[in-house]
Amino acid sequence: MTTQTTPRARVCVLISGNGSNLQALIDACARHEIPAEIIQVISNRADAFGLQRAQKAGIPTAVLDHRTFADRAAFDAALADLISQSQPDWVVLAGFMRILTPEFVQRFIGKLINIHPSLLPRHPGLNTHARALAAEDTEHGATVHFVTPTVDAGPAIIQGVCAVQAEESAESLQARVHQLEHQIYPLALAALVAGAVRYEHGQAQWASGNPANAPRQIFA
Ligand code: GAR
Repeated sequence: MTTQTTPRARVCVLISGNGSNLQALIDACARHEIPAEIIQVISNRADAFGLQRAQKAGIPTAVLDHRTFADRAAFDAALADLISQSQPDWVVLAGFMRILTPEFVQRFIGKLINIHPSLLPRHPGLNTHARALAAEDTEHGATVHFVTPTVDAGPAIIQGVCAVQAEESAESLQARVHQLEHQIYPLALAALVAGAVRYEHGQAQWASGNPANAPRQIFA
């Protein structure tokens, strides 16, 4: 008699730095909270600490240094080829600090997700925590979203929301949002792998329905 196991989803994670979100995903996979296997971690920086996290977990790593390419298009084409070699079901940006060409995004659209440290559509781009404070936002947080050609504009899947406290600094806010990120990224990937949410008609469609196309939200 043969035993059959359901093949686990294949996940490729792209990083540029610390990789704490990568670690949250590694840990969630190890705890079987996501029926997925991280089959490759790619960094555009050789000194990214996340590479050590991956190696410690026994995950193959690769470095593709964008500075060795003639232009953005050439780097993105090589990156897309490298990703495709490992035939991932999902491509997960976890602190990958590169703007991607529309050609790259189109190649993986629907299975390419990102985490961003703000409640999109508020504060796309950089320095989100300081900008939330400057704008006197009462709520802040993080968003997991499908990546579309316009930077930080793809449909949101899950948001983690926290109240902005009195006497808050950008650093304290960043630390709390980071904690939220480590909760919502595994939740989002688990939902995708389970087919509970998918990219359809430019929206994040939950199987259980979300007529307003609103992201799921969790509050801290
Ligand atoms: C995270 O806060 C993530 O939201 C942000 O980079 C950090 C990476 O942290 N990503 C972006 O700003 C993308 N626009 P990590 O390396 O510890 O996971």
